[in-house]
Amino acid sequence: MQEHRIKVWDLPLRLFHWLLVISVALAFATGLQGGGWMVWHGRIGLWILALLVFRLTWGIIGSTYARFGQFVRGPAAIRAYLNGRWHGLGHNPLGAISVLAMLGLLSLQAGTGLFATDDIAFSGTLKSLVGHQTSLWLSGVHRQAIWVLGGLILLHIAATVFYLVRGQNLIRPMVTGYVLSREPMARPAEGGGILALLLALAIAGGSVWVANGGLLSPPPPPVIPAW
Ligand code: HEM
Ligand code: HEM
Repeated sequence: MQEHRIKVWDLPLRLFHWLLVISVALAFATGLQGGGWMVWHGRIGLWILALLVFRLTWGIIGSTYARFGQFVRGPAAIRAYLNGRWHGLGHNPLGAISVLAMLGLLSLQAGTGLFATDDIAFSGTLKSLVGHQTSLWLSGVHRQAIWVLGGLILLHIAATVFYLVRGQNLIRPMVTGYVLSREPMARPAEGGGILALLLALAIAGGSVWVANGGLLSPPPPPVIPAW
């Protein structure tokens, strides 16, 4: 059967992925380094939050294979995939679980970071909304979750290499956007136009403004002694 090139990943999704890879690596590095790097850690964390909100919105209004409704499937589809009876494009039904787990854990990580504190000099931008004990508890969750997140990321990279060794290059489509398909009925990605992109960017920007304390009342001016 003849192979033909089909568009599967749109440009915003590919940019999201590779920016996420760089940003998560930097978040790990700055968080583990601590000290003066925490200010950058907070900035990078907020940027990751923007990427995540963008991706969640794009999962609803993005192009065909970016949509959650397209790739989140039930156990029957996972069984079919494991038995070699799944021939779709985009994330396979098993890979979809790891995609959801990574997006979910990254959201937990960024979410807890907003309320966390290192109890020395750096706190998340929304820490003032919770009591100190709650902040310490959320900091603990933030510190523990990096192990699960790190494990999932290693598994994700190992799976990608596993497919590569078996002769299926998933990395090239994540760079170029195109796959070679033998399925005559396979349809290229559609939708996710400029208006959808602007809307997703606006929602991501607005969320980061709120996460950065945009709705909090400004701190009271410092009291200057009268003498
Ligand atoms: C997905 C994004 C993030 C990742 C992967 C991440 C990762 C990390 C890592 C590796 C540490 C060091 C933990 C340790 O020393 O054991 C850390 C600590 C910390 N992070 Fe994040 N972080 C993220 C987002 C954020 C955000 C958005 C904020 C706040 C705006 C934040 C605030 C903090 C704080 C305050 C600590 C110190 C916690 C403590 O010492 O108990 N993080 N993070
Ligand atoms: C911090 C590291 C990484 C994170 C957090 C991460 C996260 C993700 C996420 C969330 C997706 C789903 C894309 C979407 O639909 O939004 C994905 C897909 C993908 N990632 Fe990564 N990734 C990382 C590193 C890498 C690396 C280093 C590679 C290449 C070796 C890679 C290759 C891929 C490929 C090929 C896909 C598409 C899988 C498919 O065809 O179903 N990732 N990644």
